[in-house]
Amino acid sequence: GRTAAVIPAAGRGVRLGPGAPKALRALNGTPMLVHAVRAMARARAVSLVVVVAPPEDAAVAEVRALCADVTSGADVVVVAGGDTRQESVARGLAALPADVDVVLVHDAARPLVPVDTVEAVAAAVRAGAPAVVPALPLADTVKQIAAAPPGDPEPVVATPDRSLLRAVQTPQGFDRAVLAAAHEKITVAGDGATDDAGMVERLGEPVVLIPGHEEAFKVTRPLDLVLAEAVLARRRE
Ligand code: C5P
Repeated sequence: GRTAAVIPAAGRGVRLGPGAPKALRALNGTPMLVHAVRAMARARAVSLVVVVAPPEDAAVAEVRALCADVTSGADVVVVAGGDTRQESVARGLAALPADVDVVLVHDAARPLVPVDTVEAVAAAVRAGAPAVVPALPLADTVKQIAAAPPGDPEPVVATPDRSLLRAVQTPQGFDRAVLAAAHEKITVAGDGATDDAGMVERLGEPVVLIPGHEEAFKVTRPLDLVLAEAVLARRRE
């Protein structure tokens, strides 16, 4: 079977500040989404990339036009997304042809993931793991809090052992049938699931971590744009 990448890119990106949908913000003149599509399409393992655009007709058309410029070994298809990340991924999965048996789900907001990380995730799924996630140790100590009214100081209830915590990245790789079953059976209330592996965990399937990469960081806040452009500049040196 083939390996496909699904890139949910339908988020508004409000934490980045006002402006265009996050995936369409430029990094060194090229939309973040185009960097992300190239990062997937460059991987030899990936033969198809499904991009999930904001649902408005104009956004779908704009994303199609942008993706037409991506020349690589992989086919690129654009479909309309939903209100939550989980719904957007589900719409991408629904667009996959029957011969795809491994799926990588990659955030448009991680435009600079190195090709070696993409290949390593795909290879680990091909080697038999139903769900594979790239991850890194944490630099910061993490506190668990009790809910507090907005603006109030937040009471700390626990300090988990940092050596046993990991920050997870994308692309997350899956056996297609396992991911499809998770999306059929697991519903996460509110904003939906923030990560596909979490849904697979709830299904009771094993999820394993492999080493991630610092350049696979998520562009979330304004400072991340500065960092991403610095990484691109360093690559061109
Ligand atoms: O908001 P966050 O940074 O967690 O979004 C992660 C990814 O999910 C982004 O690529 C974003 O475009 C995508 N997303 C989506 N549909 C939504 C919300 C987020 O495709 N409704």
